[in-house]
Amino acid sequence: MNRDLRIPGGDVAADRAAEQLQSKLPKVGTTIFTVMSTLASEKSAVNLGQGFPDFDCDPLLVDAVSDAMKSGLNQYPPMAGVPALRQAIAAKIEKLYGYSYDPATDITVTAGATQGLLTAIMCTVHAGDEVIVIEPAYDSYVPAIELAGGKPVLVQMTLGADGYAIPWDRIAAAVSPRTRMIMVNSPHNPTGSVLTPADIDALKDIVRGTGILILSDEVYEHMVFDGVRHESICRHPELAARAFVVSSFGKTYHVTGWKIGYVAAPPALSAEFRKVHQYNVFTVNTPVQHGIAQYMQNPAPYLELPAFYQHKRDLFRDGLKQTRFKLLPADGTYFLCVDYSAISSLSEADFAIWLTSEIGVAAIPVSAFYQSPRESGIVRFCFAKQNQTLQQALQRLAKI
Ligand SMILES: Cc1ncc(COP(=O)(O)O)c(C=O)c1O
Repeated sequence: MNRDLRIPGGDVAADRAAEQLQSKLPKVGTTIFTVMSTLASEKSAVNLGQGFPDFDCDPLLVDAVSDAMKSGLNQYPPMAGVPALRQAIAAKIEKLYGYSYDPATDITVTAGATQGLLTAIMCTVHAGDEVIVIEPAYDSYVPAIELAGGKPVLVQMTLGADGYAIPWDRIAAAVSPRTRMIMVNSPHNPTGSVLTPADIDALKDIVRGTGILILSDEVYEHMVFDGVRHESICRHPELAARAFVVSSFGKTYHVTGWKIGYVAAPPALSAEFRKVHQYNVFTVNTPVQHGIAQYMQNPAPYLELPAFYQHKRDLFRDGLKQTRFKLLPADGTYFLCVDYSAISSLSEADFAIWLTSEIGVAAIPVSAFYQSPRESGIVRFCFAKQNQTLQQALQRLAKI
């Protein structure tokens, strides 16, 4: 601040304001992703921590966006999103998953999935409402529920020989008259697990005959491997009728920095969603929407994504098989979790710091995805990297 512009006594006033401020999110600090990325750059480590690609997107997508800019599409678009993009999204969902959303009323373009998730929670969760969250969970879920005045009800996945699984009996037991919503995420960050048809049946049994809503985070919908189909909530009309389904173009098109996604929900839910959306961001930047609408006309980029990432997963897994890490299944997403208990007894956070500082490869402790400390001896690597980056990481990890 320019000192000359300070108001006399301003420092005292600022201190008093800070003292009286009651944080709405007292438990929230700097995220582990920021901490690990900072350490990775300080130590010149290969950063397999934070989940973003180290390669660029398709130049055709950049051309489509810059063409939109150059042709003057630079003013506010409609609040819910550019019609051509909403139509392209609805057409994609119908083709892939068979559910027919009306682009006029049911699809809203958002500033990334994060804003979609927050808005879906803000528009439905009232003070004291309970929201069931399955842990480990993406870090924005719990703060979003708390901001809405809701109460997160945490149920932990089990970890067995076949990897992580959702204990549906415990979810059923966690349902109460105050349960407003159940959040699901498939493919799942950080575990790389995917919902199976049996999971979907269990979810149907729990919500049938109740007013419970579903918030389905499907940002990795196009990253499901080994020929398995993505169990989108949109494949199941009984669930889609009570669900907000969230996706992210950042993940699908390798443009995490563009922060653009969408939320699909039936008309009554979308109407409530848009009430909050219009006073939250109002809308999302115009040329990117037009560019993506144009680029989506060719389905190849998202249809080819499973093979693209499966190749990277296999390259990375094959290399890791030569190490003492125990590999957990990685059925979807661009994350792979490993059990390091044969290598070290450090806590997950300390092991991730050691791995970054001493071995030169950054990872994320899975304990960071739980509200209460929970140590399973597991860290998460992101394999959305150039093959040479993965190879460089493997060379370093081979030293362990
Ligand atoms: C499970 C999950 N949901 C949501 C997001 C946020 O997506 P966006 O960058 O589009 O806000 C991420 C990003 O890492 C994620 O992993």
